[in-house]
Amino acid sequence: MLMINSKFLEPACLSVMKNVEKEILLFITFEGIDGCGKSTQVERFEARLKKAGIPPLITREPGGTETGDAIRKILLHLDGESVTPLTQLFLYEADRAQHVTEVIRPALDLGKWVVCDRFYDATTVYQGIVQGQGEDVAERLNYLSTSGLNPDITFLLDCPAEMAMERIKIRDGTTKKRDMFDKKDIEFHRKIRHAYLSIAGKHKDRFKIIDASLSVDEIEEQIGGKISPYLIENDSMS
Ligand code: TMP
Repeated sequence: MLMINSKFLEPACLSVMKNVEKEILLFITFEGIDGCGKSTQVERFEARLKKAGIPPLITREPGGTETGDAIRKILLHLDGESVTPLTQLFLYEADRAQHVTEVIRPALDLGKWVVCDRFYDATTVYQGIVQGQGEDVAERLNYLSTSGLNPDITFLLDCPAEMAMERIKIRDGTTKKRDMFDKKDIEFHRKIRHAYLSIAGKHKDRFKIIDASLSVDEIEEQIGGKISPYLIENDSMS
């Protein structure tokens, strides 16, 4: 459990102390298959928390630090599949070790809420289960890279792979470049979805499964419903 010394809290953080004392809920992660609409929901979630007087730190993996951004470039922008699954596993963990030490842990120690777009569950699913490096191996490395830090809540945005791929096509038609995993075939994304649901079933206390086949507003509504019990001191929220 996270120990918080209120002497070191920023004024904005004091408003969340009641929530913190009531129930530790500071570190929130978002997961899901590529194209599930995660990034849009992270943005909306940030706005929701700000409105509730809890401006969070928003971050993502891979990335979130200078070192992490360099690792992200290697992992996601190299053409083809020159990075082997084992190399990927180590690179994602290296990114995470830096990210936890430099960004996530210091923010949590100040009592700040942290919202992370992907965290160690992505490694368990992508590298551990689907790419065959072993769920147990990924979990052990996750433990090392995070020094045992766990999210308090993980939103899994779940939708069929076909739907996610359609969304990626629309997204690509607009701005974003396709990355290594976006280019993989539909069967790969089905396996990712299945693996996420499998680990969510093993960690029911932490995972909140969100139906991401609905509209953006409806997805936001579901997430809002799950977080609202933790925002009881801020009843300006819906
Ligand atoms: P995103 O930033 O659009 O979510 O893309 C990140 C990609 O990296 C996504 O395809 C999933 C992949 N990934 C892994 O394979 N393992 C990991 O540990 C993480 C954090 C991401």
